[in-house]
Amino acid sequence: SFDARADAATDRPTVIAHRGASAYAPENTLAAVDKAAELGVDWVENDVQRTKDGELVVLHDDSLRRTTDVEQVFPGRAPWKVKDFTAAEIARLDAGSWFGAAYAGARVPTLQQYVHRVELHHQKLLLEIKNPDLYPGIERQTLKVLSNEGWLDQGHVVDRLIVQSFSAASVRTVHKLKPGVRTGFLGTPRVADLPEYATFADQINPSYSTISTGYVAGVQAFTGPHGRPLEVFTWTVNSANTARRVAGHGVDGIITNAPDVVRDALPSS
Ligand code: G3P
Ligand code: CA
Repeated sequence: SFDARADAATDRPTVIAHRGASAYAPENTLAAVDKAAELGVDWVENDVQRTKDGELVVLHDDSLRRTTDVEQVFPGRAPWKVKDFTAAEIARLDAGSWFGAAYAGARVPTLQQYVHRVELHHQKLLLEIKNPDLYPGIERQTLKVLSNEGWLDQGHVVDRLIVQSFSAASVRTVHKLKPGVRTGFLGTPRVADLPEYATFADQINPSYSTISTGYVAGVQAFTGPHGRPLEVFTWTVNSANTARRVAGHGVDGIITNAPDVVRDALPSS
């Protein structure tokens, strides 16, 4: 059965570790996945982009600069865009030291490595296709990696995988390529446009600053491509007060850097 339905029975939103448990470990690394598992959090969110030689890697920014030591390792390669580096070059970078010395040596994971780790912990994955305009064909390629890793079988697509993007075109493409895969649109569409979104997205995932009880209920009144009410996962909620507020708005999921804080803020039944 769907997770969100189980949660609906208790009225407790699903808690999703944003870029992993990124308040406690460097975002989008395997350490952040491990940290989420340690906290007992079964959903992790990540961001997928593509290297110069066509490998899918997990990183938020389109540049390597903020979250790795790329400036030191490859001076003169400004602005250090992911798409201008090979997978082998990126594999040499330290993606942990910026966050804390304890994480020195953490790497930028490939999508394949990332999915392996999520599987190891029996977690669930909210995968974001980032900047799809920079990476033509990334939807098909992402689905191919997921398929190769066994993530498109029924056991995974029913309740362990959601693919989301800020690009409606990208979400639509994923839905067309693999209609069984659940999808999410990142943003706050006008209610008048929801019937169209509901043809290809199972979720509407807005910034918490844009929502109200009325909007959330308005979204949930539509039926998605899999015959269930559209769900709302909101981001990025890092305080107990905001978590309680958005839970009061009736959201289905809360995407957070600090999943323990959000979980502890929510009523237990
Ligand atoms: O999952 C929602 C959230 O990640 C969207 O914003 O910039 O953190 O990818 P961003
Ligand atoms: Ca994201």
